[in-house]
Amino acid sequence: MSFDRSIKIAPSILSADFANFGQEIQAIEKEGCDWVHVDVMDGHFVPNLTFGPPAVAAFRPHVKTFMDVHLMISPVDQYIEAYAEAGADMIVAHVEASTHIHRTMQAIRAQGVKAGVALNPGTPASAVAELLDLVDMVLVMTVNPGFGGQKFIHSCVEKTHDIRQMIGDREVHIQIDGGVTPETVPLVAAAGADVFVAGSAVFKGGSVENPAPYGANIRAIREAAEAVL
Ligand code: DX5
Ligand code: ZN
Repeated sequence: MSFDRSIKIAPSILSADFANFGQEIQAIEKEGCDWVHVDVMDGHFVPNLTFGPPAVAAFRPHVKTFMDVHLMISPVDQYIEAYAEAGADMIVAHVEASTHIHRTMQAIRAQGVKAGVALNPGTPASAVAELLDLVDMVLVMTVNPGFGGQKFIHSCVEKTHDIRQMIGDREVHIQIDGGVTPETVPLVAAAGADVFVAGSAVFKGGSVENPAPYGANIRAIREAAEAVL
């Protein structure tokens, strides 16, 4: 994957039909998404439970674009290899979930996959200052993690701008995750983010039988982001 900072839309399958993940992944890719965002939750780091490595391995053959695996789990290091083996193209770990986040990023890269570091809304931008030469992406949470369909937290916009300044000309993406809609995306696109996760805003109104709304929703978010660049 060559680096470019063009706008990318990464639907979160946390908002997909849980009885039809394969078809839902095929549908969002056919409808124009750039990445597929897989939210892994352990019921400990966040108050919800989702996908183990076998589930991610089952998603893998359906993903033709790029599978971005967001680990909302703690501890995290002992699961990195399993999610890499399951086929993740990128593994994102939370700075709050690891006592030794620098080593965690090294461990992800040692598996030959892209490495991302995530920050919760309460964590300052400075928490990633020492990691920018070790990662391919900084994930800025714009909701408190655990669920789809939550309200965008506006105080994270300023933080996004600060992180974009810290990155400079490094080949590091900024991903926004949580409450992204055509109304909120311009704020964070203007602040310098380039990858946008959206769950409820992409899947609303559609189904595996009727995926056309997925395409319309993806286009609406993309156009709203591009309009401010
Ligand atoms: C929340 C997850 C997000 C969430 C996004 O913990 O990390 O990826 O699924 O869902 P929306 O776009 O509905 O906020
Ligand atoms: Zn996520």
